[in-house]
Amino acid sequence: MKILITGGAGFIGSHVVRRMVKRYPNYHIYNLDALTYAGNLENIKDIESFKNYTFIKGDITNAEFLNSLFLKYKFSSVIHLAAESHVDRSIIDPLAFVKTNVIGTVNLLNASKELWKDDFTNKLFYHVSTDEVYGSLENCGLFTENTSYKPNSPYAASKASSDHFVRAYGETYNLPFIISNCSNNYGPNHFPEKLIPLFINNIINKKSLPVYGDGNYTRDWLYVEDHAKAIDLAFHKGKTGETYNIGGFNEWKNIDLVKLLCKQMDTILNRPGGESKKLITFVKDRPGHDLRYAIDATKINEELDWKPSVTFEEGLLKTINWYLENQEWLKNVTSGSYVEYYSKMYNQKA
Ligand code: NAD
Ligand code: TYD
Repeated sequence: MKILITGGAGFIGSHVVRRMVKRYPNYHIYNLDALTYAGNLENIKDIESFKNYTFIKGDITNAEFLNSLFLKYKFSSVIHLAAESHVDRSIIDPLAFVKTNVIGTVNLLNASKELWKDDFTNKLFYHVSTDEVYGSLENCGLFTENTSYKPNSPYAASKASSDHFVRAYGETYNLPFIISNCSNNYGPNHFPEKLIPLFINNIINKKSLPVYGDGNYTRDWLYVEDHAKAIDLAFHKGKTGETYNIGGFNEWKNIDLVKLLCKQMDTILNRPGGESKKLITFVKDRPGHDLRYAIDATKINEELDWKPSVTFEEGLLKTINWYLENQEWLKNVTSGSYVEYYSKMYNQKA
């Protein structure tokens, strides 16, 4: 099987690529990534020399390039993760999200349809999406696969649009697809502009922890390797044309999560109890901030026997230790254009 994985130099993609390359020596994995600020070949250095792995630098917004790539390699499946993925950046520059997340996805669908049109047998377009397409929940209820879409941020709107296109290609052209919508991921290789890695980095450097609004926003957190495992399962055993919600059964208010993180890091760094908590600073809220996300993952749990393998406390400890052991990685990704973004976003030096 020749599988094209897009966005495999990013956070989740790197874990999916590693898992597929190592678990399936008979497959050939092609990792297509534009290496934007969020893509980093360091993330997948350990599998670089595997015989069943090829890295291709390229941009999914370039339709011509994609068409020739599909003709050259004749992929039998696609696992599509490449995206602009950060809500705050989407508020600053929505069009970048339309280009990659919407147009890039349609380009990939077109290239797949063109290559596979005479025979869809054993072909699959697997689209990785987010729970943010469903919008925001009040204090109760869960997102199911039947919840209607109501995206609130430009990021969520662009992902919702890409999901609709994937489904529409299934209905209109019979393109075989699966979509999965996952909750917030955390773990190694997460770019430090998202909550958990940003706060780990700031605690290491004793810098303020900018909590948006009152901190009473709720997210459902899943360890990234558990997401990679769910994608692997749904890719192999999921039903074509179906959507699977993936979540951690693990809801945390931001402020409680930050306090837990501070406590764990004080212990690991041998700092007096309560020291890191003093870094918490409440800052101006994100516009259109979704109050709560929570996934009902019953379907994937019952149909594919998937469930998270680590508790949040275990996963968070593993994550903190990874960042402490990979300071060089952190230093490299927090240089260059990131410094500019940080000072614009938080009005202080990165
Ligand atoms: P990320 O930003 O860490 O990685 C995205 C990758 O895509 C990067 O390697 C980047 O270089 C690449 N990329 C961006 N634009 C590209 C383009 N035009 N052409 C080719 N490559 C391009 O994102 P992530 O957090 O790993 O998310 C991966 C996918 O999972 C996304 O589709 C995202 O919407 C989805 N998702 C993420 C989360 C989460 O919590 N991070 C949760 C659910 C779903
Ligand atoms: P984030 O990691 O950006 O993921 P998402 O917006 O996709 O859920 O943010 C997670 C939560 O943390 C979200 O409610 C926004 C909040 N947050 C802060 O309070 N401060 C920050 O500096 C960041 C980046 C996020």
